[in-house]
Amino acid sequence: MTSKATLCLAALLGVQAAAQTPLYLDPTAPVEQRIDDALSRMTLDEKIRVIHAQSKFSAAGVPRLGLPDFWTDDGPHGVRPDVLWDEWEQAGQTNDSCTAFPALTCLAATWNPDLARLYGRSLAEEALYRGKDMILGPGVNIYRTPLCGRNFEYMGEDPWLASRMVVPYVEGLQSQGVAACVKHYALNNDEEHRHQVNVIVSDRALHEIYLPAFRAAVCEGHAWAIMGAYNLYQNQHNCHNATLLNRILKTDWAFDGVVVSDWGGTHSTAEAIANGLDMEFGTWTDGLTMGATNAYDNYYLANPYKQAIKEGRFSTAELDDKVRRILRLYMRTTLDRTRPLGSLCSESHYDAAMRVACEGIVLLQNRDGMLPISPARTRRILVVGENAVKMMTVGGGSSSLKAQRETSPLDGLRRRLHGLVQVDYARGYVGDTGGSYNGVSTGQDLTDHRTPEQLIDEAVSMARGADCVIVFGGLNKSDYQDCEGHDRQSYGLPYGQDRLVEALAEANPRTVFVSISGNAVAMPWAHKVAAIVQGWFLGSMTGQALAAVLVGDVSPSGRLPFSWMKSLDHYGAHALGAYPGTWREARDVIDEEYSEDIFVGYRWTDSRQTEPLFAFGHGLTYTTFTYGKPRITTLDDAQGRYRLTLTITNTGQRRGAEVVQLYISDLQSSVPRPVKELKGFRKVELEPGQTAEVVFDIDRRMLSFYDDTLGRWRAEPGRFEAIVAASATDIRGRAAFELK
Ligand code: BGC
Repeated sequence: MTSKATLCLAALLGVQAAAQTPLYLDPTAPVEQRIDDALSRMTLDEKIRVIHAQSKFSAAGVPRLGLPDFWTDDGPHGVRPDVLWDEWEQAGQTNDSCTAFPALTCLAATWNPDLARLYGRSLAEEALYRGKDMILGPGVNIYRTPLCGRNFEYMGEDPWLASRMVVPYVEGLQSQGVAACVKHYALNNDEEHRHQVNVIVSDRALHEIYLPAFRAAVCEGHAWAIMGAYNLYQNQHNCHNATLLNRILKTDWAFDGVVVSDWGGTHSTAEAIANGLDMEFGTWTDGLTMGATNAYDNYYLANPYKQAIKEGRFSTAELDDKVRRILRLYMRTTLDRTRPLGSLCSESHYDAAMRVACEGIVLLQNRDGMLPISPARTRRILVVGENAVKMMTVGGGSSSLKAQRETSPLDGLRRRLHGLVQVDYARGYVGDTGGSYNGVSTGQDLTDHRTPEQLIDEAVSMARGADCVIVFGGLNKSDYQDCEGHDRQSYGLPYGQDRLVEALAEANPRTVFVSISGNAVAMPWAHKVAAIVQGWFLGSMTGQALAAVLVGDVSPSGRLPFSWMKSLDHYGAHALGAYPGTWREARDVIDEEYSEDIFVGYRWTDSRQTEPLFAFGHGLTYTTFTYGKPRITTLDDAQGRYRLTLTITNTGQRRGAEVVQLYISDLQSSVPRPVKELKGFRKVELEPGQTAEVVFDIDRRMLSFYDDTLGRWRAEPGRFEAIVAASATDIRGRAAFELK
């Protein structure tokens, strides 16, 4: 064939192909028309097929129509290793290691929305490379009790902070064509008996505390999916909860995405059909319990649904709505031909993980400039504690990862101080010597048969001659610690760490405690140690980031995303005995009444005038900042818009970042309101001597409360105060204004 003839044939075929491209596959056609077109071509079986799982983490597409299978994976700190088709056990692939990003508590502690965007984008790139279309995260359940085993996967106690951080995470992820699945909607604020807890909460607390971050993710971040929680609300499971899904999410918030069940969170075909569940996953944990050839056909939204339609118990109206949403999800992900290919474990991802870790570490206490450690003036450091060596990316439940790299705190310090300072190590305590989850193992053997006394004696004798002692303690990712499925059983540090820390502080006053955890813990010895650092679960770059902060390569700039109370009864939920709830045998549920209502975290301590050990928003740096007097101007009286400005100056000797926080106080109100509420923050990085102007725009919504009699947000005229602060208890300036 001549080249001319080839060209003609190619052109002809091209024309024919274009003419035959169905509307639903035409990326230039309007999305809703494409959805209508695809839907009109689908049989009942095909519609049923796409609304439930076909394996542990995938749902079938429609091969006949060229609609690919849909793959999802956890989330939220990295892409989970592949599991076997029907089981939780890892598949044993050799190409599914990932970059482990810091846990979401650390991300929240950066108070830096730009980093949340970078986090989401980097994670999406890993997901794409691994062939995942949706990441099961981020999680934004509110930190109500420090015992909650999953707090480390969430963004703290404050709805404003969590909202500002979740939106860019979702946007970053979805910018790459990977769906976010925001979880766990809603009121899954503790883990113990999570399938049976029925939350009783006022409308005000629901809308003011527990829903705003979900709302922001949906209405501002335009999340493409959301995951129903395991627990119940109004005596109905949240995966098919009429109020939460149909009324609030799909009607009030106009959510156009897909409601995904949590794995095994579906309990009824009729409710799942009628109450807004779109995609069912994980029913019966091994996927095969029904003993049928294909157990997935027995899912609530599979054959039982088809049967209900055939028998006329349901029309196809609900089914079509579910399928439309799923087709919309396909358009946004699997059918998006412009979607990039992604990349796995790239240096840019490690850089992103490092930046988040460095900015999220919180310097809680620093007596007499104990930190940073000066390598020039230090000969020998003693590092103590299991958490100095234990790999933490494995464990904790569904967020467990198979990290390509993970540097421990001890290795990080040793590398950074190599040739400069002698770094010795003593174990100090034995906690959890295991290190495997679903078949992924750290490969570490931490077995140590010495008694607690022997371990403490060894550490103390090594501490005596050291220039400083750094204890890496806290919690870990094993059951009843920072781990899914259960809550912690006490607020105190486990494994006898209190005794160890006290003994070390007595032997060497230059003792630093670094807490590796996602939760606050009791620190009865806080006044005896020189410095305290909150080191979270930092993922791949744990050692490098901690070393950078401890040695002072980086000035710490993290701020607590939750209040760190002195004791458990300083948390509202515990003070009122409102956790873990009351067993109702007849209904087989645990009624958990949130009697502290809207007074969660600092809202509680403010109203009770109790001092936390470390306040919400607290975090020290290696420099100092001076706040100018805040000035307020009215932008629009009728609309209730104001502008607050102030200057901030780095008055110390080195570069550093301050998080300027804006709280609003409603001074005249017909309903009880918190003393103050966070309504803005800016992270400002300044050179020594440098001054910046910080501007906050205040609008009506920031002055509003949820009026439960009207069922909407409302701002009452009257006097308000804008409070500028460095933490919830460190107030630097006030400016009053009046809403007309
Ligand atoms: C967890 C979810 C997770 C899912 C899939 C559930 O047990 O609650 O957060 O995404 O499992 O692993």
